[in-house]
This record gives sequence, structure tokens and C-alpha cells, in this order.
Amino acid sequence: MKACEGAAPAGITLDEVTVRYGAHIAIERASFAVRPGELMALVGPSGCGKTSLLNAINRLSDLIPGCTVTGNIAVGGRDVRAPDTRLTALRRQVGMVFQLPNPFPLSVAENLRFPLREHGVSNRDERDRRTEEALRAVGLWEEVKGRLGQPAQALSGGQQQRLCIARTLALGPEVLLFDEPCSALDPLSAGVIEALITGLKGRYTILLVTHNLPQARRLADTVAVCWVSEGCGCVVESGPCGVLFERAAHPITRAYCGGEVG
Ligand SMILES: Nc1ncnc2c1ncn2[C@@H]1O[C@H](COP(=O)(O)OP(=O)(O)O)[C@@H](O)[C@H]1O
Ligand SMILES: [Mg+2]
Repeated sequence: MKACEGAAPAGITLDEVTVRYGAHIAIERASFAVRPGELMALVGPSGCGKTSLLNAINRLSDLIPGCTVTGNIAVGGRDVRAPDTRLTALRRQVGMVFQLPNPFPLSVAENLRFPLREHGVSNRDERDRRTEEALRAVGLWEEVKGRLGQPAQALSGGQQQRLCIARTLALGPEVLLFDEPCSALDPLSAGVIEALITGLKGRYTILLVTHNLPQARRLADTVAVCWVSEGCGCVVESGPCGVLFERAAHPITRAYCGGEVG
């Protein structure tokens, strides 16, 4: 299902990335790298610019009026803002999963078949094959195979979130951006999503925004800690998960990862 089966997925590099809404700086001069196949947790309090950074990586930020991005963002070594970047190709390569499950108001199966059609998979059998494969990859096939024609909105919240992950996987991404994918779900459903993300580790390069520090500790290879001061966000420190949780250099990281603030 992955675009580059057998090869390492693309990594992500951010160099001095600033995201603004009009004159307001959401996050300033963020720099970090997520190596191919690595899972980085992006943690920090609300309003420090985590979502803004994710949106900049697959250029959803282009759709937000007044939003400007400066600095350099590379996926697989390619500048995502280069003039020859094809947005459909970028969004296929870099999939995104949001906090609130957002299935299309279509049937369970059409939630996958429709984007596959839009992304040029013209053969119906191929679309059906990839739909089943992606639903199996998120552990949903057995639960929904008898109701593929029913509205996706009738699924539980946790099932809807797995459907959204399947919709992204069906397109063969290399990079997955998860924006607090468990925080709107009950603890059991959240556990299922966490287990699913664990299973995806290594095959995809993953940037996971989470407020759940124990979850970051369980899942992440590396962690970037964001902070906000006087309304402006920044990345205060990034590095291997064990280092940030046990011997962070920055006092904010020590306090935040130690659960004292935030
Ligand atoms: N569409 C927008 N228009 C204007 N300001 C925004 C918009 N989205 C986010 N912001 C502002 O940018 C800052 C960072 O927001 P966000 O990236 O959502 O942070 P986080 O995901 O860490 O909570 C906040 O001050 C927020 O109010
Ligand atoms: Mg956010």
C-alpha cells in the first residue's frame, strides 16, 4: 500500500520555519528533522503553533486566508514550497489525520474509493482492492465489511478515526501527520488508535502531535517540545525521547516533560 514498498519513506526537515496569520506569529523559527521511518512526538501547550506547523508541511496552510510560511520545509529532500510542487502529489505523499474524525458524508467504502478516484486510480477493481487493503490495515475490515454502503457517520468515533487513517493509507503516503488523533476519543478507542500508530512505526515517517506525555514516551523515537510566550510559539528543544524525558537541557522541557507545568 505504501508508495515506496521496500524503500525508506521520506524524512522531514524544518529549517527556521515561521508561520504567521497576518501580523500574528503563531510559531517562530522552528527547526527540527524527522528521519525516514522515525516517529517524532510534537508536544506543548495549546496555542504554541503545533497545528500550524503540521499544516505548513503538507501546505494545507495555503488554504487559510492570511497565513504565510517562511523558512524551509523539505520532505524527502524536496522543498515543499518549490514552484514545481504538485499539491495533489504532496498531499498523497504527506497524509494528515485530525483531532476530530472527519469522514466525508459518504458511505464507508466511498470514503476510500472517492479519494482514490480523485488521485487517479481509474480502475474500479484496483480501487476496491486498495479499499479492502487499507481497511484491513487499520483493523476495520471485519467490523465494516457487511456495511460498506452505509453512511460513515453511523460508525463510532473510534471507527471513524480508523476510517480516516485508512483513507490516508489507501493513497500510499510516506509521511503521516497526526494532530492529536486520540484526544477526542474515549480511552478504549484511543488505545486502539495508539496501537494502530505503533503498528505503522518504521514503515512511515510520523509526526504525532499529542498532549498525552505518557503516550509520547511510549511511542516516540524523538520529541520536539514547543512553548508559547506572549502569544508567540517556538520549539524550545528537540532530541531523542529518553534524553528529553530524563535529562533535558532546557528548564521548560524539564518542567513540561516532568509534568510540573503545562
Ligand atoms: N486560522 C487562524 N487564523 C488566525 N490565527 C490562528 C489561526 N489558526 C491558529 N491561529 C493562532 O495561531 C496560534 C497557534 O495556533 P495552533 O497552531 O492552532 O496551536 P496549537 O495547535 O499548538 O494549539 C494561536 O495563537 C492561534 O490563535
Ligand atoms: Mg492544535
